[in-house]
Amino acid sequence: MIVNGDSFNIINPELFKHSLEGIRQSVATPDSFYSADNVICWNRHFSFMTDEPFMEAMRKNATSNIEMTIIWRTYILCHFAKLARRLEGDFVEVGAYKGNTANVIADRIDLASSGKQYYLYDAFEHKETDIHHSMPEHGPELYTTVKERFAAYPFVKVIKGYVPESFEKGFPEKIAFAHIDLNQAPAEVEALKRIIPCMVPGAVLVLDDYGWWSYGTQKEAEDPLLAEFGLDILELPTGQGLVIKPYA
Ligand SMILES: C[S@@+](CC[C@H](N)C(=O)[O-])C[C@H]1O[C@@H](n2cnc3c(N)ncnc32)[C@H](O)[C@@H]1O
Repeated sequence: MIVNGDSFNIINPELFKHSLEGIRQSVATPDSFYSADNVICWNRHFSFMTDEPFMEAMRKNATSNIEMTIIWRTYILCHFAKLARRLEGDFVEVGAYKGNTANVIADRIDLASSGKQYYLYDAFEHKETDIHHSMPEHGPELYTTVKERFAAYPFVKVIKGYVPESFEKGFPEKIAFAHIDLNQAPAEVEALKRIIPCMVPGAVLVLDDYGWWSYGTQKEAEDPLLAEFGLDILELPTGQGLVIKPYA
């Protein structure tokens, strides 16, 4: 008899041995193991690793290991951004921080030649009274650094200030792709109230923190709102929430 942790479930020993042997055999494939960003898995192709244009955009833009650890999330964003590129409307990222993800996407799908604008919103600084947590690069210089980062990308609009008030400084009429990553519920909810009505049919919305237990207040607040708009959300293994605006 095998007792599993605190739950005192009795596990069939033969089944347990069989499962362990299955894991042992599949882990034995040396190139097929992935562990990052709270995802551990094996016996997969990990196609992003062999997508050379994507890997090139990652290598060019990821300035730290942390940015490489979210490679699977970034790959998913690039995939859906490429689809959204064919639609009418602009791109937005709400919570852009250093602009890394936006830069990978813009490079990977050649947003420059699409005629679309890419709106990046962030406070770029952190105050004691803020609900969201601070990040290492927050500070008075970050806005300028991000502006400079995109100096050669005239289609990228870097907008400093608190969301949703900062939307008044510039906001697209139609949205094809929205990536929301504020790590806090109240501002995300207000952002979604503005963004969803502007999404064109087929538009993609990715909620970065949706599936993360530690950001549970976001799911709690966003599920009823998405339901009001008649939108279904798919929780991905990466923790992202994926929404496609239906055509009808
Ligand atoms: C996790 S970071 C974004 C990371 C970025 N999406 C990336 O992939 O590189 C979250 C950002 O949200 C910003 N943020 C949180 N609440 C905000 C608000 N109400 N208005 C503007 N920015 C906010 C923070 O300043 C922080 O830079």
